[in-house]
Amino acid sequence: MIDDRIDIVRHPRFVTLEGGEGAGKTTVLNALREAFGADGADVVCTREPGGTPLSERIRELVLDPGQAPATDETELLLVFAARVQHVQERIRPALARGAWVLCDRFTDSSYAYQGGGRGLDPARIEALERDFVGLRPGLTLLLDVDVAEGRARARGRDAAPDRIERERDEFFERVRRTYLARAAAEPARFRVIDAAPSAEAVAAAAVAAWRAWKTA
Ligand SMILES: Nc1ncnc2c1ncn2[C@@H]1O[C@H](COP(=O)(O)OP(=O)(O)OP(=O)(O)O)[C@@H](O)[C@H]1O
Ligand SMILES: [Mg+2]
Repeated sequence: MIDDRIDIVRHPRFVTLEGGEGAGKTTVLNALREAFGADGADVVCTREPGGTPLSERIRELVLDPGQAPATDETELLLVFAARVQHVQERIRPALARGAWVLCDRFTDSSYAYQGGGRGLDPARIEALERDFVGLRPGLTLLLDVDVAEGRARARGRDAAPDRIERERDEFFERVRRTYLARAAAEPARFRVIDAAPSAEAVAAAAVAAWRAWKTA
């Protein structure tokens, strides 16, 4: 819960996509990029972990199944190190020049995966968010889908699962529950989109949710 002491600012042109494995975040991001472009907006599309050269290298460390196992705390600090670099080098400058920033995963993924999935205390995640990130999206589109369905989609796409995709179903059930709890706790920021229908239908729902939010 954000309290008065905490200075985490929501930026209205910062939009994030969240959801579990294979929910369709990257598919929807591409549809949103086209819709933003059609509306004449200057839009920067990016992703986490990643989005800068250093952050992409950290992504490889986090996701490479060949890496020596990271402790849960190390994984948390690596994804935050990548995020801090991304915010400072890329996201804040883009917002400052007036662009929209559309990001595939952001801090909600840390609450869902390192918090819900790994079981780390969300207060520690919030401390990192407050001290080093200080920024939340104006709008977060949460793509919600059954864990088995999402995993089947991701399996159909990938040659081999990454380090996190190798986790058990229970892990991803906790990820999903954490996302839904966060959406319920912050309804002004989140729009939950049923990601079970076809890719075209989900993308259309996401574009409609963004347009409605933008004009509200
Ligand atoms: N609504 C949908 N119905 C069926 N298949 C879909 C749907 N949306 C996306 N897909 C397909 O499922 C796979 C996963 O989609 P996508 O890569 O967009 O998911 P993601 O949420 O970005 O996954 P990850 O968490 O692994 O990055 C892709 O092959 C994509 O074409
Ligand atoms: Mg993706």
